[in-house]
Amino acid sequence: MRLVCGQHAEDLPGVFRTAGESLLRELKTVGLLKEGDRVLDVGCGCGRFARVLLDEPIGGYVGFDRHPGMIEWCQAEFGRLDPRFAFHHFDVKSAYVDFDGHAGEVDPLSFVWPWDENAFDFALLASVFTHMPLEEAAAYLRELKRVIAPQGRVVLSVFFAEGEAFSETINFYYEPDAFHRVVAEAGFDHVVREAPVTGATHNWYVLTHAG
Ligand SMILES: C[S@@+](CC[C@H](N)C(=O)[O-])C[C@H]1O[C@@H](n2cnc3c(N)ncnc32)[C@H](O)[C@@H]1O
Repeated sequence: MRLVCGQHAEDLPGVFRTAGESLLRELKTVGLLKEGDRVLDVGCGCGRFARVLLDEPIGGYVGFDRHPGMIEWCQAEFGRLDPRFAFHHFDVKSAYVDFDGHAGEVDPLSFVWPWDENAFDFALLASVFTHMPLEEAAAYLRELKRVIAPQGRVVLSVFFAEGEAFSETINFYYEPDAFHRVVAEAGFDHVVREAPVTGATHNWYVLTHAG
């Protein structure tokens, strides 16, 4: 939990559990997560979203992350509970190394995800682009466009800068216009429900296939 919530969060189990539960409630309330959905959880960490999906009527769940220990833990804890759930470790390089010490070897810019076109209906990237430079996010968006079915949905969060893009420790703050440009270049339309906030506050986006 420290590896995904920060070392100093107070009431770590409470923060972890509440964030997963409230995200699920919201996704179901607004109809973004549907019965039978094939779910992809990019940067799934230690299964904050997976654990709340165990009782949901989804079609299946795949989570991946570049941290081997968290994936091993998810495989042991969730994989054995429900055969619909699969977890994969891909040894992708990431700025997150400064936080958890795992360097990785695979270049995220050329990392081709091992799934066919239209393999998923719903993808989540909860606080993942917040730790990736924009060009890496652009590469992931291209892969998302390929693996998400035409009627599918992508839900993700990003941090925004007040002015020019910058990074600070493991956090990346994009310019909103630059982020919207890479979303459109990947072939997605985007919906935001609130005006952008700057700093280390999550801006949540819903992406759908353009047109
Ligand atoms: C703040 S944590 C969020 C984890 C999870 N999504 C959650 O909400 O609990 C960020 C996660 O992104 C993963 N990550 C960072 N860069 C990544 C990359 N290029 N590909 C896949 N996962 C990545 C980290 O290993 C970490 O588990």
